[in-house]
Amino acid sequence: MPFSVFVTRHLTPEAEDKLNAFCQAEYWPGETPPPYQVLLEKTRQIDGLLCLLTDSIDADLINQASQLKVISQVAVGVDNIDLGAAEQRGIPVGHTPDLLTDATADLAFALILAAARRLGEAIDYARSGRWQTWGLTTLLGESVYGSTLGIIGMGRIGQAVARRAQGFDMTILYMDNSEHPTLENELGAKRVPLAQLLEDVDIVSLHVPLNETTAGLIGADQFKLMKPHAILVNTARGAVVDTDALVTALKTGQIGYAALDVTDPEPLPHTHELYQLPNALIIPHIGSATRTARNQMALLAVDNLVAGLQGDPLPKAVYQP
Ligand code: DGY
Repeated sequence: MPFSVFVTRHLTPEAEDKLNAFCQAEYWPGETPPPYQVLLEKTRQIDGLLCLLTDSIDADLINQASQLKVISQVAVGVDNIDLGAAEQRGIPVGHTPDLLTDATADLAFALILAAARRLGEAIDYARSGRWQTWGLTTLLGESVYGSTLGIIGMGRIGQAVARRAQGFDMTILYMDNSEHPTLENELGAKRVPLAQLLEDVDIVSLHVPLNETTAGLIGADQFKLMKPHAILVNTARGAVVDTDALVTALKTGQIGYAALDVTDPEPLPHTHELYQLPNALIIPHIGSATRTARNQMALLAVDNLVAGLQGDPLPKAVYQP
């Protein structure tokens, strides 16, 4: 077993078996990420790093890892990794796209429905003993069927959300760097500029990666354009939305509701004001959290790692020298 590997959290049993059969892997035992200093120390002495999106793989860490042959992340998004530094050192970086597309699109749709029909509030209402009778105007929400959905980022997950929206007879507007003529023909989706999308839709669902062009994409100016009953759903990355501006938009009625699987900061401290707002629903970054998706992601991350250690092309690389 010539290679040494550090894994920043336990994987699924199947993925660990596969990795252990190939190399000597050390697993960080905690449920929370290894502290940065520990990660830095470990990475100095290893050939392969298998990490999660909660680990900060910055330029310092990459530059000090003199033996490092591959970085393999269990996630599709890699905004926690300094890709420029990896590229400079010629270290391949793997990720796990596709396998989580449907799980994440399902969750985005669950959030759309939960926000529109105020499920979080309704559950609290029943649980807390406030349910006295059937009320004609109790907990009124918004229709999802037949409404207009704005998808920001029409990549794999955005497209999977669009397909689900078709079943709800939704009009689909989207913003993306590229046109998607096949999807437009198939679903009647229309590509529009961001401002128009925000003005015209009832529900906005975010599906862009986090990078310097998308950080803070939805902030005070954008909330001003949205309809007062509009719902914002974020299953992408928290920092795509300006959190302070979102709090203001929800408190002042600029928008109707926000349903967030991702937040900025993440995790959102339990004392944060957003939790106090009745029109905000927050869940802890579980977009891809199905047994199947997470196991497949972990297995692919192992495959990427093993390929990198052996000097082979990674099955799924964000960067391959
Ligand atoms: C990803 O893969 O980037 C998701 O945020 C977690 O599954």
